[in-house]
Amino acid sequence: MHTPFNDIYHTRHPIIQAGMGPYDTTKLAAAVARAGGLGLISTVGMGSFNMPGIGEFKYSAIFGDDPPEKLLEKSIDIVLREIEAVPDAKFGINIPVSEEFIPTASRLIKYVIDRVKADPAVKEKCTAIVTSAGDPLPWSVDPGDKKLPTSIPIKAELPGIVWTHVVPSVRAARRCEKAGVDVIVASGREGGAHCSWRDTSTMVLVPEVVQAVNKPVVAAGGFCDGGSLVAALAMGAIGIQMGTRMIATKESDFEHSWKELLTKATEEDTLVARGFFGPMRFVRNKRAVELVDATVRGAPDLYKGNPTGSTQEIIDLEVSGLENLFKGKIDETPVLGGQVAGRIHDIPTVKELVDRIMAGAEATLERIQRFK
Ligand SMILES: Cc1cc2nc3c(=O)[nH]c(=O)nc-3n(C[C@H](O)[C@H](O)[C@H](O)COP(=O)(O)O)c2cc1C
Repeated sequence: MHTPFNDIYHTRHPIIQAGMGPYDTTKLAAAVARAGGLGLISTVGMGSFNMPGIGEFKYSAIFGDDPPEKLLEKSIDIVLREIEAVPDAKFGINIPVSEEFIPTASRLIKYVIDRVKADPAVKEKCTAIVTSAGDPLPWSVDPGDKKLPTSIPIKAELPGIVWTHVVPSVRAARRCEKAGVDVIVASGREGGAHCSWRDTSTMVLVPEVVQAVNKPVVAAGGFCDGGSLVAALAMGAIGIQMGTRMIATKESDFEHSWKELLTKATEEDTLVARGFFGPMRFVRNKRAVELVDATVRGAPDLYKGNPTGSTQEIIDLEVSGLENLFKGKIDETPVLGGQVAGRIHDIPTVKELVDRIMAGAEATLERIQRFK
Protein backbone atom coordinates (compact mmCIF):
# COMPACT_ATOMS: atom_id res chain seq x y z
CA MET A 1 0.00 0.00 0.00
CA HIS A 2 1.35 3.39 -0.97
CA THR A 3 -0.52 6.63 -0.27
CA PRO A 4 0.64 10.27 -0.48
CA PHE A 5 1.57 9.82 3.20
CA ASN A 6 4.61 7.69 2.26
CA ASP A 7 5.98 10.44 0.01
CA ILE A 8 5.25 13.26 2.45
CA TYR A 9 6.85 11.69 5.53
CA HIS A 10 9.23 9.29 3.68
CA THR A 11 8.01 6.25 5.59
CA ARG A 12 7.18 2.68 4.50
CA HIS A 13 3.68 2.74 5.99
CA PRO A 14 0.95 5.43 6.36
CA ILE A 15 0.91 5.26 10.15
CA ILE A 16 1.80 7.82 12.83
CA GLN A 17 2.29 6.81 16.46
CA ALA A 18 0.68 9.67 18.36
CA GLY A 19 2.49 11.97 20.73
CA MET A 20 1.44 11.02 24.27
CA GLY A 21 2.85 13.53 26.68
CA PRO A 22 3.45 13.98 29.50
CA TYR A 23 4.53 10.35 29.17
CA ASP A 24 7.74 9.20 27.57
CA THR A 25 7.37 7.54 24.15
CA THR A 26 11.06 7.40 23.23
CA LYS A 27 11.39 3.61 22.94
CA LEU A 28 7.99 3.37 21.30
CA ALA A 29 8.87 6.04 18.72
CA ALA A 30 12.09 4.23 17.85
CA ALA A 31 10.26 0.89 17.49
CA VAL A 32 7.58 2.45 15.27
CA ALA A 33 10.23 4.13 13.10
CA ARG A 34 12.06 0.81 12.73
CA ALA A 35 8.77 -0.90 11.80
CA GLY A 36 8.18 1.60 8.97
CA GLY A 37 5.75 4.07 10.55
CA LEU A 38 6.37 7.60 11.81
CA GLY A 39 7.22 7.39 15.52
CA LEU A 40 6.63 10.55 17.56
CA ILE A 41 8.69 11.68 20.51
CA SER A 42 6.36 13.22 23.11
CA THR A 43 6.86 16.26 25.29
CA VAL A 44 7.93 14.40 28.42
CA GLY A 45 6.88 16.08 31.62
CA MET A 46 5.65 19.07 29.58
CA GLY A 47 7.79 21.47 31.66
CA SER A 48 5.80 23.84 33.83
CA PHE A 49 2.73 25.81 32.97
CA ASN A 50 0.33 28.40 34.24
CA MET A 51 -3.18 27.38 35.07
CA PRO A 52 -5.88 30.06 35.44
CA GLY A 53 -6.82 30.32 39.09
CA ILE A 54 -4.12 27.85 40.16
CA GLY A 55 -0.87 29.52 39.12
CA GLU A 56 2.34 27.83 38.12
CA PHE A 57 2.37 24.07 38.15
CA LYS A 58 5.39 21.82 37.67
CA TYR A 59 5.39 18.18 36.66
CA SER A 60 8.96 17.93 37.87
CA ALA A 61 8.05 16.00 41.02
CA ILE A 62 7.08 13.15 38.74
CA PHE A 63 9.25 13.52 35.67
CA GLY A 64 12.41 15.03 37.15
CA ASP A 65 13.90 18.49 37.17
CA ASP A 66 15.61 18.50 33.79
CA PRO A 67 14.61 21.44 31.60
CA PRO A 68 12.31 20.43 28.72
CA GLU A 69 15.07 20.88 26.10
CA LYS A 70 17.27 18.44 28.00
CA LEU A 71 14.51 15.82 28.11
CA LEU A 72 13.92 16.26 24.39
CA GLU A 73 17.63 16.07 23.65
CA LYS A 74 17.84 12.77 25.55
CA SER A 75 14.89 11.32 23.61
CA ILE A 76 16.27 12.41 20.24
CA ASP A 77 19.68 10.91 21.04
CA ILE A 78 18.14 7.58 22.07
CA VAL A 79 15.89 7.41 19.00
CA LEU A 80 18.81 8.23 16.67
CA ARG A 81 20.86 5.45 18.24
CA GLU A 82 18.03 2.91 18.07
CA ILE A 83 17.18 3.57 14.42
CA GLU A 84 20.75 3.90 13.16
CA ALA A 85 20.72 0.50 11.47
CA VAL A 86 17.43 1.10 9.61
CA PRO A 87 18.07 3.56 6.77
CA ASP A 88 14.42 4.41 6.05
CA ALA A 89 13.33 4.81 9.70
CA LYS A 90 11.78 8.24 10.37
CA PHE A 91 10.51 10.03 13.44
CA GLY A 92 8.82 13.26 14.39
CA ILE A 93 8.37 15.40 17.49
CA ASN A 94 5.04 16.32 19.12
CA ILE A 95 4.83 19.71 20.82
CA PRO A 96 1.47 20.73 22.34
CA VAL A 97 0.91 24.48 21.89
CA SER A 98 -2.09 25.06 24.14
CA GLU A 99 -2.02 28.41 25.92
CA GLU A 100 -0.67 27.05 29.20
CA PHE A 101 2.29 25.47 27.40
CA ILE A 102 3.29 28.33 25.10
CA PRO A 103 6.48 29.21 27.03
CA THR A 104 7.59 25.55 27.02
CA ALA A 105 6.42 25.04 23.43
CA SER A 106 8.48 28.02 22.20
CA ARG A 107 11.59 26.67 23.87
CA LEU A 108 11.07 23.20 22.42
CA ILE A 109 10.32 24.46 18.90
CA LYS A 110 13.48 26.58 19.07
CA TYR A 111 15.47 23.55 20.26
CA VAL A 112 14.19 21.41 17.36
CA ILE A 113 14.99 24.15 14.82
CA ASP A 114 18.54 24.60 16.14
CA ARG A 115 19.13 20.85 16.35
CA VAL A 116 17.85 20.15 12.82
CA LYS A 117 20.06 22.93 11.46
CA ALA A 118 23.13 21.75 13.37
CA ASP A 119 22.82 17.96 13.18
CA PRO A 120 22.64 16.26 9.75
CA ALA A 121 21.41 12.97 11.31
CA VAL A 122 18.38 14.74 12.82
CA LYS A 123 17.75 16.62 9.57
CA GLU A 124 17.63 13.32 7.70
CA LYS A 125 15.61 11.27 10.19
CA CYS A 126 13.23 13.78 11.77
CA THR A 127 10.68 14.53 9.06
CA ALA A 128 7.89 16.13 11.10
CA ILE A 129 6.97 18.57 13.84
CA VAL A 130 3.47 17.76 15.09
CA THR A 131 1.92 20.65 17.02
CA SER A 132 -1.36 20.08 18.83
CA ALA A 133 -3.92 21.26 21.37
CA GLY A 134 -3.79 24.93 20.43
CA ASP A 135 -3.75 27.61 17.75
CA PRO A 136 -1.32 27.01 14.85
CA LEU A 137 -1.31 30.67 13.73
CA PRO A 138 1.38 31.98 16.15
CA TRP A 139 3.79 29.46 14.60
CA SER A 140 3.06 30.43 10.98
CA VAL A 141 5.14 32.62 8.70
CA ASP A 142 2.45 35.28 8.83
CA PRO A 143 0.78 35.18 12.29
CA GLY A 144 -0.78 38.67 12.00
CA ASP A 145 -2.28 39.77 15.32
CA LYS A 146 -1.72 36.25 16.72
CA LYS A 147 2.03 36.91 16.87
CA LEU A 148 3.34 36.30 20.41
CA PRO A 149 6.59 37.58 21.90
CA THR A 150 7.86 33.99 21.59
CA SER A 151 6.35 33.11 18.18
CA ILE A 152 8.69 31.25 15.81
CA PRO A 153 7.75 30.72 12.14
CA ILE A 154 8.30 26.95 11.85
CA LYS A 155 8.24 26.70 8.04
CA ALA A 156 10.42 29.77 7.51
CA GLU A 157 13.06 28.25 9.78
CA LEU A 158 12.70 24.66 8.55
CA PRO A 159 11.18 24.61 5.05
CA GLY A 160 12.03 20.88 4.73
CA ILE A 161 10.08 19.73 7.80
CA VAL A 162 6.48 18.51 7.48
CA TRP A 163 4.54 20.78 9.81
CA THR A 164 1.59 18.76 11.02
CA HIS A 165 -1.14 20.01 13.37
CA VAL A 166 -3.86 18.08 15.24
CA VAL A 167 -7.46 19.39 15.22
CA PRO A 168 -10.86 18.36 16.65
CA SER A 169 -13.04 20.41 14.26
CA VAL A 170 -13.47 21.81 10.74
CA ARG A 171 -13.08 25.31 12.18
CA ALA A 172 -9.63 24.43 13.54
CA ALA A 173 -8.70 22.69 10.28
CA ARG A 174 -9.44 25.90 8.35
CA ARG A 175 -7.15 27.74 10.73
CA CYS A 176 -4.38 25.24 9.90
CA GLU A 177 -4.85 25.98 6.22
CA LYS A 178 -4.54 29.70 6.93
CA ALA A 179 -1.40 29.06 9.00
CA GLY A 180 0.29 27.11 6.20
CA VAL A 181 0.34 23.75 7.99
CA ASP A 182 1.40 20.92 5.62
CA VAL A 183 -0.72 18.06 6.99
CA ILE A 184 -3.77 18.11 9.27
CA VAL A 185 -4.51 15.31 11.75
CA ALA A 186 -8.28 15.21 12.32
CA SER A 187 -8.80 13.57 15.71
CA GLY A 188 -12.29 12.39 16.60
CA ARG A 189 -13.95 12.07 20.00
CA GLU A 190 -13.18 8.35 20.30
CA GLY A 191 -9.52 9.16 20.94
CA GLY A 192 -7.65 8.86 24.21
CA ALA A 193 -6.77 11.87 26.41
CA HIS A 194 -7.83 15.37 25.34
CA CYS A 195 -11.13 15.68 23.57
CA SER A 196 -13.63 18.50 23.43
CA TRP A 197 -16.96 19.07 25.19
CA ARG A 198 -18.25 19.95 21.74
CA ASP A 199 -16.99 16.65 20.44
CA THR A 200 -17.31 15.16 16.98
CA SER A 201 -16.83 11.49 16.14
CA THR A 202 -14.06 10.42 13.76
CA MET A 203 -16.66 9.14 11.30
CA VAL A 204 -18.17 12.61 10.93
CA LEU A 205 -15.06 14.74 11.45
CA VAL A 206 -12.63 13.15 8.98
CA PRO A 207 -14.68 13.36 5.74
CA GLU A 208 -15.87 16.84 6.67
CA VAL A 209 -12.31 18.09 7.23
CA VAL A 210 -11.16 16.40 4.00
CA GLN A 211 -13.87 18.27 2.14
CA ALA A 212 -13.31 21.63 3.86
CA VAL A 213 -9.57 22.05 3.36
CA ASN A 214 -7.15 21.66 0.52
CA LYS A 215 -4.55 19.82 2.60
CA PRO A 216 -3.68 16.16 3.17
CA VAL A 217 -5.54 14.80 6.20
CA VAL A 218 -4.50 12.02 8.59
CA ALA A 219 -7.33 10.40 10.57
CA ALA A 220 -7.06 9.83 14.34
CA GLY A 221 -9.33 8.52 17.08
CA GLY A 222 -10.34 4.86 17.17
CA PHE A 223 -7.85 3.27 14.76
CA CYS A 224 -6.19 -0.05 15.50
CA ASP A 225 -6.23 -2.46 12.54
CA GLY A 226 -6.22 -2.91 8.79
CA GLY A 227 -9.97 -2.52 8.44
CA SER A 228 -9.99 0.82 10.24
CA LEU A 229 -6.99 2.00 8.17
CA VAL A 230 -8.94 1.25 4.99
CA ALA A 231 -11.96 3.07 6.48
CA ALA A 232 -9.77 6.16 7.00
CA LEU A 233 -8.61 6.01 3.39
CA ALA A 234 -12.22 5.57 2.25
CA MET A 235 -13.10 8.79 4.10
CA GLY A 236 -10.40 10.64 2.16
CA ALA A 237 -7.52 10.49 4.64
CA ILE A 238 -3.97 9.59 3.55
CA GLY A 239 -3.18 7.59 6.69
CA ILE A 240 -3.87 7.13 10.39
CA GLN A 241 -2.50 8.26 13.74
CA MET A 242 -2.83 5.85 16.66
CA GLY A 243 -2.29 6.52 20.34
CA THR A 244 -4.08 3.98 22.52
CA ARG A 245 -3.32 0.95 20.32
CA MET A 246 0.39 1.85 20.33
CA ILE A 247 0.51 1.96 24.15
CA ALA A 248 -0.31 -1.76 24.31
CA THR A 249 2.84 -2.96 22.57
CA LYS A 250 5.90 -4.70 24.01
CA GLU A 251 8.32 -1.84 23.33
CA SER A 252 6.07 0.99 24.53
CA ASP A 253 7.48 2.92 27.48
CA PHE A 254 4.17 2.75 29.40
CA GLU A 255 3.85 0.70 32.59
CA HIS A 256 2.74 -2.90 32.06
CA SER A 257 -0.29 -2.31 34.32
CA TRP A 258 -1.54 0.39 31.87
CA LYS A 259 -1.12 -1.96 28.89
CA GLU A 260 -2.91 -4.75 30.74
CA LEU A 261 -5.84 -2.51 31.66
CA LEU A 262 -6.26 -1.67 27.96
CA THR A 263 -6.43 -5.34 27.00
CA LYS A 264 -9.12 -5.94 29.65
CA ALA A 265 -11.31 -2.95 28.75
CA THR A 266 -14.44 -3.37 26.66
CA GLU A 267 -15.78 -0.75 24.26
CA GLU A 268 -17.93 0.58 27.14
CA ASP A 269 -14.97 1.11 29.45
CA THR A 270 -13.90 4.69 28.78
CA LEU A 271 -15.27 7.83 30.42
CA VAL A 272 -14.90 11.52 29.66
CA ALA A 273 -14.21 13.79 32.64
CA ARG A 274 -12.66 17.18 33.07
CA GLY A 275 -8.87 16.99 33.02
CA PHE A 276 -6.26 19.70 33.68
CA PHE A 277 -7.12 21.83 30.68
CA GLY A 278 -10.42 20.47 29.52
CA PRO A 279 -12.18 17.20 28.91
CA MET A 280 -10.16 14.02 28.66
CA ARG A 281 -11.04 10.42 27.89
CA PHE A 282 -9.96 7.97 30.58
CA VAL A 283 -10.10 4.19 30.82
CA ARG A 284 -12.70 3.34 33.44
CA ASN A 285 -11.25 2.58 36.87
CA LYS A 286 -11.68 3.95 40.41
CA ARG A 287 -9.84 7.22 39.67
CA ALA A 288 -11.74 7.82 36.41
CA VAL A 289 -15.05 7.49 38.27
CA GLU A 290 -13.81 9.94 40.94
CA LEU A 291 -12.88 12.40 38.19
CA VAL A 292 -16.32 12.06 36.62
CA ASP A 293 -17.83 12.66 40.02
CA ALA A 294 -15.82 15.87 40.54
CA THR A 295 -16.68 16.98 37.00
CA VAL A 296 -20.39 16.47 37.49
CA ARG A 297 -20.30 18.55 40.70
CA GLY A 298 -18.66 21.37 38.71
CA ALA A 299 -20.94 20.83 35.72
CA PRO A 300 -22.81 24.17 35.78
CA ASP A 301 -19.59 25.89 34.62
CA LEU A 302 -18.51 23.35 32.03
CA TYR A 303 -20.21 24.73 28.97
CA LYS A 304 -19.39 28.35 29.77
CA GLY A 305 -15.75 27.94 28.76
CA ASN A 306 -14.68 28.41 32.40
CA PRO A 307 -12.52 26.18 34.49
CA THR A 308 -14.96 24.36 36.76
CA GLY A 309 -15.38 25.26 40.40
CA SER A 310 -13.75 21.95 41.15
CA THR A 311 -10.50 22.61 39.26
CA GLN A 312 -8.27 22.20 42.32
CA GLU A 313 -9.99 18.94 43.23
CA ILE A 314 -9.44 17.67 39.69
CA ILE A 315 -5.80 18.71 39.70
CA ASP A 316 -5.31 16.90 43.01
CA LEU A 317 -6.96 13.75 41.66
CA GLU A 318 -4.78 13.88 38.54
CA VAL A 319 -1.47 14.77 40.17
CA SER A 320 -1.68 12.22 42.96
CA GLY A 321 -2.85 9.79 40.28
CA LEU A 322 0.26 10.35 38.15
CA GLU A 323 2.40 9.31 41.09
CA ASN A 324 0.19 6.30 41.79
CA LEU A 325 1.08 4.88 38.37
CA PHE A 326 4.68 4.44 39.44
CA LYS A 327 3.65 3.03 42.84
CA GLY A 328 1.79 0.12 41.26
CA LYS A 329 -1.68 1.52 42.10
CA ILE A 330 -3.28 1.40 38.66
CA ASP A 331 -6.86 1.63 39.98
CA GLU A 332 -6.01 5.02 41.50
CA THR A 333 -4.22 6.31 38.38
CA PRO A 334 -5.92 8.39 35.67
CA VAL A 335 -5.34 6.04 32.73
CA LEU A 336 -5.77 8.00 29.52
CA GLY A 337 -7.12 5.91 26.69
CA GLY A 338 -9.55 5.89 23.80
CA GLN A 339 -12.68 3.88 23.08
CA VAL A 340 -10.54 1.65 20.91
CA ALA A 341 -9.29 0.08 24.16
CA GLY A 342 -12.33 -2.17 23.67
CA ARG A 343 -10.68 -3.52 20.50
CA ILE A 344 -7.27 -4.21 22.04
CA HIS A 345 -6.83 -7.80 23.15
CA ASP A 346 -3.07 -8.38 23.12
CA ILE A 347 0.34 -6.80 23.60
CA PRO A 348 2.30 -7.54 20.41
CA THR A 349 5.66 -6.11 19.37
CA VAL A 350 5.35 -2.91 17.36
CA LYS A 351 6.55 -4.73 14.25
CA GLU A 352 3.95 -7.48 14.70
CA LEU A 353 1.26 -4.82 15.11
CA VAL A 354 2.30 -2.71 12.11
CA ASP A 355 2.73 -5.76 9.85
CA ARG A 356 -0.67 -7.07 10.99
CA ILE A 357 -2.31 -3.72 10.21
CA MET A 358 -0.79 -3.53 6.75
CA ALA A 359 -1.67 -7.16 5.91
CA GLY A 360 -5.18 -6.57 7.28
CA ALA A 361 -5.57 -3.49 5.10
CA GLU A 362 -4.58 -5.41 1.95
CA ALA A 363 -6.99 -8.23 2.86
CA THR A 364 -9.80 -5.74 3.51
CA LEU A 365 -9.25 -4.05 0.15
CA GLU A 366 -9.40 -7.43 -1.60
CA ARG A 367 -12.56 -8.43 0.23
CA ILE A 368 -14.25 -5.15 -0.64
CA GLN A 369 -13.35 -5.59 -4.31
CA ARG A 370 -15.56 -8.69 -4.33
CA PHE A 371 -18.60 -6.53 -3.47
CA LYS A 372 -18.36 -4.66 -6.77
C1 LIG B 1 -1.83 8.67 27.22
C2 LIG B 1 -2.14 9.65 26.14
C3 LIG B 1 -1.49 10.88 26.14
C4 LIG B 1 -1.70 11.79 25.10
N1 LIG B 1 -1.00 12.97 25.08
C5 LIG B 1 -1.03 13.73 23.96
C6 LIG B 1 -0.11 14.80 23.77
O1 LIG B 1 0.75 15.11 24.61
N2 LIG B 1 -0.17 15.50 22.60
C7 LIG B 1 -1.10 15.20 21.63
O2 LIG B 1 -1.11 15.85 20.57
N3 LIG B 1 -1.99 14.21 21.79
C8 LIG B 1 -1.95 13.46 22.90
N4 LIG B 1 -2.81 12.39 23.02
C9 LIG B 1 -3.77 12.10 21.93
C10 LIG B 1 -3.10 11.28 20.85
O3 LIG B 1 -2.09 12.05 20.27
C11 LIG B 1 -4.01 10.78 19.71
O4 LIG B 1 -4.50 11.84 18.94
C12 LIG B 1 -5.14 9.96 20.18
O5 LIG B 1 -4.65 9.03 21.09
C13 LIG B 1 -5.78 9.25 19.01
O6 LIG B 1 -6.82 8.42 19.40
P1 LIG B 1 -6.65 6.87 19.82
O7 LIG B 1 -6.21 6.91 21.23
O8 LIG B 1 -8.02 6.32 19.64
O9 LIG B 1 -5.64 6.25 18.90
C14 LIG B 1 -2.62 11.47 24.05
C15 LIG B 1 -3.30 10.24 24.08
C16 LIG B 1 -3.06 9.33 25.10
C17 LIG B 1 -3.79 8.01 25.06
